[in-house]
Amino acid sequence: MDKVDSSLSPQEHSQANEAICKVEAASKSYPQGDASVEALRSVGLSIKTGAFVAVMGASGSGKSTLLHLIAGLTSPTGGSVVVDGVDLSTLSDAALTRFRRERIGLIFQSFNLVPALNASNNILLPLMAGGMKDDRSANVKELASRLGIDHRLEHRPDSLSGGEQQRVAIARALITEPAVLLADEPTGSLDSTTGQSICKLLRDLCDQQGRTIILVTHEPSVAVWADQVVVLKDGQIIEEFPACEFQDAQSLAAHYQEILDEGLPSPQAVASTN
Ligand SMILES: Nc1ncnc2c1ncn2[C@@H]1O[C@H](COP(=O)(O)OP(=O)(O)O)[C@@H](O)[C@H]1O
Ligand SMILES: [Mg+2]
Repeated sequence: MDKVDSSLSPQEHSQANEAICKVEAASKSYPQGDASVEALRSVGLSIKTGAFVAVMGASGSGKSTLLHLIAGLTSPTGGSVVVDGVDLSTLSDAALTRFRRERIGLIFQSFNLVPALNASNNILLPLMAGGMKDDRSANVKELASRLGIDHRLEHRPDSLSGGEQQRVAIARALITEPAVLLADEPTGSLDSTTGQSICKLLRDLCDQQGRTIILVTHEPSVAVWADQVVVLKDGQIIEEFPACEFQDAQSLAAHYQEILDEGLPSPQAVASTN
């Protein structure tokens, strides 16, 4: 049975729930030999519809794991993840796949476009995978125009710049009108000017269209574009603060460094299971 279906449409779910994403006491451990790596330890996070949240932390602090839990790409070993009113643990594999395709937009550092397809068909991929019934080329054109890539739709990824490729990936993530847009280090492969233009684009999508965005980054110059910053250290949230408290990336960077230096005493990252 498809457990995504209910009396409420996904859009009605969004409106009924102020928090579009709720992570409660979520833990994730990975087996490693006789021990386990605790990538996340009892993480709690509530994200309101239309918010732009940056998750910061050093490499290995659990940022991608947190994003993957919210995306339903992996399941927590403890706690719960509710997105768009749906507790992901209640979904069958087939329903989870459908939920991911329809309600989650995901973009990555490496763009992950299909090299053999032009930009237009890359953008259409999630709809094709879902068995697209009607011609959506008008939707692609409109979205591409909003993202500034309408003149590049016939081009394959290898003839697009990095910034253009990421815009195509953002269009692909948005074509299904997802409940949340998740971005894992989306500027990590771009020069700083192009990276900033992608940040501005994400900010505009939030301000002008009410998109909910959860972005993972270790760069203060990226996090400063968000509304709220969440800092992870050794799999735990050690601080949350509004980005608007900081005038620029430099002052946010100084605060971030203070948090990392003074954060909770680091528990052992590798805990024995027996
Ligand atoms: N699939 C996996 N198997 C084993 N360990 C993993 C796996 N994914 C992540 N980890 C470990 O979990 C911790 C957090 O990783 P990750 O979430 O990728 O951190 P970040 O994105 O902040 O760099 C790291 O110690 C990493 O090695
Ligand atoms: Mg990562």
